Amino acid sequence: MIAIVGSGRVGANVAVQIVTKELDDLTLIDVAQNLPQGEALDLQHMAASYGIDLKIKGTNDFSELGRADLIIVAAGFGRKPGQTRLDLMKQNSGIIASVSKEIAKYAKSSMVLMITNPMDAMTYVAHRVTGFPTNRVFGMGGMLDSCRFKSLLAQELGVSSKSLGVMVIGEHGESMVPLPRFSSVSGVALEKFLSKKKMDEAVEMTRKIAAEVIALKGATIYGPSASVASMVDAIVNDRKSLMPASVYLNGEFGVSDIYIGVPAIIGRDGIERIVEVPLDEAERAIFLRGVTSLKDAISTLDL
Ligand code: NAI
Repeated sequence: MIAIVGSGRVGANVAVQIVTKELDDLTLIDVAQNLPQGEALDLQHMAASYGIDLKIKGTNDFSELGRADLIIVAAGFGRKPGQTRLDLMKQNSGIIASVSKEIAKYAKSSMVLMITNPMDAMTYVAHRVTGFPTNRVFGMGGMLDSCRFKSLLAQELGVSSKSLGVMVIGEHGESMVPLPRFSSVSGVALEKFLSKKKMDEAVEMTRKIAAEVIALKGATIYGPSASVASMVDAIVNDRKSLMPASVYLNGEFGVSDIYIGVPAIIGRDGIERIVEVPLDEAERAIFLRGVTSLKDAISTLDL
């Protein structure tokens, strides 16, 4: 069974994805009275319309986590227009610490997939509070950033997003690192299609586009939910997919004791392998800027 903690905009839409892709039975949990129960009923009706017979439940009772193999955490506040993800640190770290305590209490063998922002820092909090092994605690950010990069490139190049293989690593925030050098159109290097200037513009827009969505409609919902669903699919179906994920680094990429986005093989055991790619000087500088700002942010917490 998959549990989603936080049945707000993102949590509920992740639920839609999990049900329509028939990934697993689902339990929605939230502190808001009635909300997860209402979402579960609505989802049951959607499932019946598709002829999908999964068990879908909504509850305010965290002990229900005990039946979960995978727990997706989307509880907490989202960015308001003008805010950065790191601005949510104070508001969300207490929520994630309390959710993590419940996870450690009721679901000792589960896997935790963090969505709540600032996602890399919140994944670190979940790891520290649960004490779970690092392959079982990780976060979603780079998958979404990669889809945003893909969407911009597909429009700019006039090619199908299906033919694009891209990679975005680093902090899920101001210092994310889109990697054109490790991206291609069906194996053909991006530089064959785009000038340096256009590439730089696409990279910069990838960093900024979420803020634009938030300014326009108040939250990002469908993009993140689809990216979470592809990570869940990789886990449930043991696909061994290479995806960017926020993972704990212990010397890889030359840094330690931090969660940040890097390429990883994802399957039944969660983060099964970290794939180190050689960064050039400019890429490494931005990656390390993210490391520094995350370490500074985490140092303000009482963990
Ligand atoms: P929302 O406000 O619509 O929903 C949040 C839900 O969390 C609410 O239903 C609230 O009752 C619940 N909640 C609060 N404290 C809780 C607790 N202790 N236990 C259980 N539930 C609790 O927010 P939205 O838009 O769904 O965003 C959720 C989080 O996901 C935000 O932090 C947002 O920034 C983040 N996010 C992350 C993305 C990523 O790429 N990693 C992309 C989009 C959003």
